[in-house]
Amino acid sequence: MPSHESPTEFLKEQLTPFLTLFTPTSDQNKDQLQDLIEKNREYFLNEVQKRGGVVFRDFTPIKVDEFDGFVQGTLELEAFNTFNSKGTPAFMANWLRSWSEKILGAGDYRRYLGKTTVRLGPVENSIQGPHVEGGGLTQRSRLLTLCCFEPGQERAETGIADFSSVYKRLPAELQEKLKYGWNQYSYTTAHPLRLLDRLILKISPLSVEMRKDGYATLTGQLCPASCLVPDTDEISIQPWSFARNSNPQVHRAAKEVFKDRGDFTQDSTADALNMNWDLTDSQGNSIGWSEEEQYTLFKTIFREAYLMDWKKGDIAIIDNVRLGHWRMNGVQGNRQLVQIQANPFDALEHRVPEEVTSDEVMA
Ligand SMILES: [Fe+2]
Repeated sequence: MPSHESPTEFLKEQLTPFLTLFTPTSDQNKDQLQDLIEKNREYFLNEVQKRGGVVFRDFTPIKVDEFDGFVQGTLELEAFNTFNSKGTPAFMANWLRSWSEKILGAGDYRRYLGKTTVRLGPVENSIQGPHVEGGGLTQRSRLLTLCCFEPGQERAETGIADFSSVYKRLPAELQEKLKYGWNQYSYTTAHPLRLLDRLILKISPLSVEMRKDGYATLTGQLCPASCLVPDTDEISIQPWSFARNSNPQVHRAAKEVFKDRGDFTQDSTADALNMNWDLTDSQGNSIGWSEEEQYTLFKTIFREAYLMDWKKGDIAIIDNVRLGHWRMNGVQGNRQLVQIQANPFDALEHRVPEEVTSDEVMA
């Protein structure tokens, strides 16, 4: 029988119902995080599965170029970046990223430090829309690993919520829509397409509909609005709230819940991105959702938030299906938060199966 007792070199504390904090029990253990994790790898990965996420704090910080080895070597996870799933080298991935920012009108200015390693975008005086990482695509990562090499100057926490717990707190009608519904994201390009744009778009997962004026409507693949968390079979909503049509509701809900955050503005990325988020059936026919429903969703998420206040050297492993996240407002300073997405996850394989009604059984 595998033992799930906490390893003696770690002090274990519940930060919140879905995050466990591990700190060293002695100075001697501080320098040995990699060895200690290697020795107890299954215990920690099991803890992520059971609870949602783990955080290691107060150990000697690792260096940026050691992070990939930590994730793929020590933890034995498989790096899988949703936005760079083919493992394009960093210079090319960055070029494609800035190309897509130009064509879509915005991006969050994250940058690849290596094939797998991404420095997250800067903090603003705004609160981001809640999302699962890569939620605009069906092939995404099951886990997020994050390392804080330098915290922000002020606030700049990461909001985290358990999206399976959020689902249970939604009104029944909205639950029903999100349980079987599909997220459809479509963009209008920021400028008319040139030949090179069209060639690049041929290898993207977006479908392209040309308009007479040379601009195009780009539509993403349908993504299940909810998935079953593989280990718990609980329904977890899978939003990716970067759309212009939902952005005012994100802001309104954030204002309502986070009353002590000063006079923050709407998220500028979602405002600049000409993207629309619709809920559809499995055929892509709109089932619609009102601004009030969007507001209710975001308010419910924000009320469930834990605000992760990063300390230098923190390393976190997060279940990207069960937990959602977003950037809080603050002052960037030299904040350097680096992410490696790991272990591929196919949202289509884990969508909530439609219940068979008794009428269908009779037929
Ligand atoms: Fe994110």
